[in-house]
Amino acid sequence: MKIDYLNRIIVEPLDVMKFLRESEDLRDDICPSVGKEIGNFLYFLVIASNSKKIIEVGTSIGYSTSWLGLAAKKINGHVYTIDISERLMKEAKLNISLMNLEDNISFIHGFGEEVLVNLPNNIDMIFIDGATKSYDKLFELSLKKLKKGGLLIFEDILFSVSGKRKIQKDMMNDFNIKISSDNRIEKSFLNIGDGLLLCLKK
Ligand SMILES: C[S@@+](CC[C@H](N)C(=O)[O-])C[C@H]1O[C@@H](n2cnc3c(N)ncnc32)[C@H](O)[C@@H]1O
Repeated sequence: MKIDYLNRIIVEPLDVMKFLRESEDLRDDICPSVGKEIGNFLYFLVIASNSKKIIEVGTSIGYSTSWLGLAAKKINGHVYTIDISERLMKEAKLNISLMNLEDNISFIHGFGEEVLVNLPNNIDMIFIDGATKSYDKLFELSLKKLKKGGLLIFEDILFSVSGKRKIQKDMMNDFNIKISSDNRIEKSFLNIGDGLLLCLKK
């Protein structure tokens, strides 16, 4: 399969990142991370767009956060990462400190929808992976937070096809349709991971 091939080609820069991704398969108390392909893509996007102020909604144990944090460290940037789970956030903090990325990452426990409002304005990039029920709300809040030309990225948008429940499929389908005709952004829908949506604020 193409993804197996890419997974052999893409190399995680730190052993802890590899360990985190591989340990996922042995656990049933966390949801899946973005994996190598999207992680590496996020890293690339941060550097290519010189995004110094980054927000992430959905930290889990910190796998995607580590790709964002590594890129932020390289360009002297900072990641604000948000999760509703205090337990996972504690774990993520420990993992990130093992990678020496703690100076470039702030952890905020709470609902993305509530925390976002209080974070700095003129954000360069927002990555949303979790809280699919709140995508509509997070989209509107993120547009307010982003600078002109800022990037907004949603994971899981192909739950509209692969979602486990009809309600989830319908919700994501409605979201995608709404976004596809939103003139405040340029957008690109990608079939990688569980589906990635890239938006550029006009
Ligand atoms: C798919 S996991 C994130 C995986 C992570 N981005 C990675 O790739 O390593 C989704 C996470 O979102 C969190 N979450 C769900 N709803 C949320 C909300 N409303 N606000 C903040 N976090 C939320 C969950 O606790 C869970 O840890």
